Amino acid sequence: MCGIVGYLGKQNATGILLEGLKRLEYRGYDSSGLAVLDSGGLEVTKRVGRVKELLAAVKKSPSQAKMGICHTRWATHGGVTEENAHPHLSSDGKISLVLNGVIENYNPIRKFLTSKGYTFYSETDTEVLCNLIAYHYAKEIDSPSDGGTRFSQSVRKALHHVEGTYGLAALCADCPDEMVGARHGSPLILGVGNDEMLLASDVSALVSRTPNVVYLNDGELVHIRGNNFTISTHESEDVQPVINTVDWDVSEGEIGDFDHFMLKEIFEQPEALENAMRGRFSQDQSTAKFGGLNVTPQELRQIDRILLCACGTAWHACLTIEFLIEKYARIPVEVEYASEFRYRNAPLDKNTLVLVVSQSGETIDTLAALKESKRKGYTTLAITNGVGSTIARESDGGIYQHAGPEIGVASTKAFTSQLVIGAMLALYLGRLRDLSFNEGAEMVIGLKEVPDLVRKIVQQSEHIHTIAKKYVHKQDFLFLGRLSMFPIALEGALKLKEISYIHAEGYPAAEMKHGPIALISEDCPSVFIATEPDTVSKVISNMQEVKARKGQLIIVRSESCEMPDGLADDEVVIPDCHPAVAPILACIPVQLLSYYIAVERGCDVDKPRNLAKSVTVE
Ligand code: M6R
Repeated sequence: MCGIVGYLGKQNATGILLEGLKRLEYRGYDSSGLAVLDSGGLEVTKRVGRVKELLAAVKKSPSQAKMGICHTRWATHGGVTEENAHPHLSSDGKISLVLNGVIENYNPIRKFLTSKGYTFYSETDTEVLCNLIAYHYAKEIDSPSDGGTRFSQSVRKALHHVEGTYGLAALCADCPDEMVGARHGSPLILGVGNDEMLLASDVSALVSRTPNVVYLNDGELVHIRGNNFTISTHESEDVQPVINTVDWDVSEGEIGDFDHFMLKEIFEQPEALENAMRGRFSQDQSTAKFGGLNVTPQELRQIDRILLCACGTAWHACLTIEFLIEKYARIPVEVEYASEFRYRNAPLDKNTLVLVVSQSGETIDTLAALKESKRKGYTTLAITNGVGSTIARESDGGIYQHAGPEIGVASTKAFTSQLVIGAMLALYLGRLRDLSFNEGAEMVIGLKEVPDLVRKIVQQSEHIHTIAKKYVHKQDFLFLGRLSMFPIALEGALKLKEISYIHAEGYPAAEMKHGPIALISEDCPSVFIATEPDTVSKVISNMQEVKARKGQLIIVRSESCEMPDGLADDEVVIPDCHPAVAPILACIPVQLLSYYIAVERGCDVDKPRNLAKSVTVE
């Protein structure tokens, strides 16, 4: 959560910083702030609300400064106020700091600094670290032995005393050509431009200035001086930087003619799915192939068990992937919430493969689960959309989604792209075991049909919009589906909760009668998802149970799952398809239904309250 940007160069810093910050708003958007440094010293502006409030504030007193730092906040310590917004300024006015993360031992440090005469104006842990840097700066000599400067050394010394996670950028009032960044657990990227250096939480904030980036690793500090930079560990060991060239089309992150990024991303799913599959089928069209797994077919044949770990929507993707791998590859799979797994010390078989799934590649719980698995010696793979992300770099191998930037906080195209990759992985693992050539070839045909089938479903968006209008004032929803449709029910409920603030629950359809049926009334509609002819008669029985209790039925069904006349109050029919890809198709109507209900309720769809897209704190 929280996004940070830093700039040091020859151009006016404010515009560059705020343009970058707008691209990071998805990481947090309850308040924002900017500190610039010029001959007049450090000047800090903060506002509660979106970056546009900050933009309006800085327009009133434009600055000519060529360096600065800025921040968009998702509150962790302290309420949403201007005082708690970043950048913080040390009470002696020397240091300004923006931070993404949590300083866990801020309390004793705050007490110590208070006893030394430092004053605090906010409730935040960041202000504590800011003053700790100022404390060391005041004590530090001008030419420290590590070759850095008094400022860089004071940041390093302060960081030796903190516990927690951070990605940070700092300025010092006395140092008009220096900026210091550091990371431990929260992402930080250095952009190396023409006569300018940038720091950001995410490449999207700096690619409009430069494609050349250095991904900092945990425990590293970057010291920028004018046009030069050095990277070292917190223990002062030099690090040889690796400059990567980012292949990123800035226009992909623009909203275009759509009202919301979420709608744009729902409509982009055919292309996202094509990109996930491009070049990933074998020449004989009977299996999938992946370039970056770094695990041989022989090693994969030794796997007895797969553990899937993720959070949120990616966890729902894992539930679907579990179903697919068990069905097509016959390998036992377990799915864990990453946040639980990291502390659970679960016993794993020695031939377990750990696969984490994360759109951003930066979710701290998923990263921690990955690291814990690596520490125990398991082979780790990742499915992620975050090229160069921490999870991509920390895992032994993996599969990039290539879904393009997902800006809407509610995940849509990243989810379906994870599902298509999951189906291809199940195919690949299956073909290494007992799945026949013909079964494999049928699956490849089924996978290749998906983008066009999804195109047909999004064409029904106006029909789904009309349905949404009928249910806009309901306060409770059930989402129900069996087998591979159960994760889609969970995902439908999550989408609705996230962006409409309507209470919704996802259940396996047959479980309804063991409790949730008590919720059924005229005021609690049920969304049933039925695509499997084998179980449709059972699901119809569950629908009848709802109907008998005056519950309204919105049915998402495949063409061949025919319903008794008059059963559905509303219905969306999706094309028949290979069963491995049915969850992808079934997901599109529930995404659109949630989207239009949220729009009709006047909700801020792309930036729902309390949520951040990338959760980089525990
Ligand atoms: O970036 P990740 O896929 O690791 O993010 C995991 C969750 O935070 C994310 O899926 C979240 O649940 C979204 N808001 C879902 O729409």
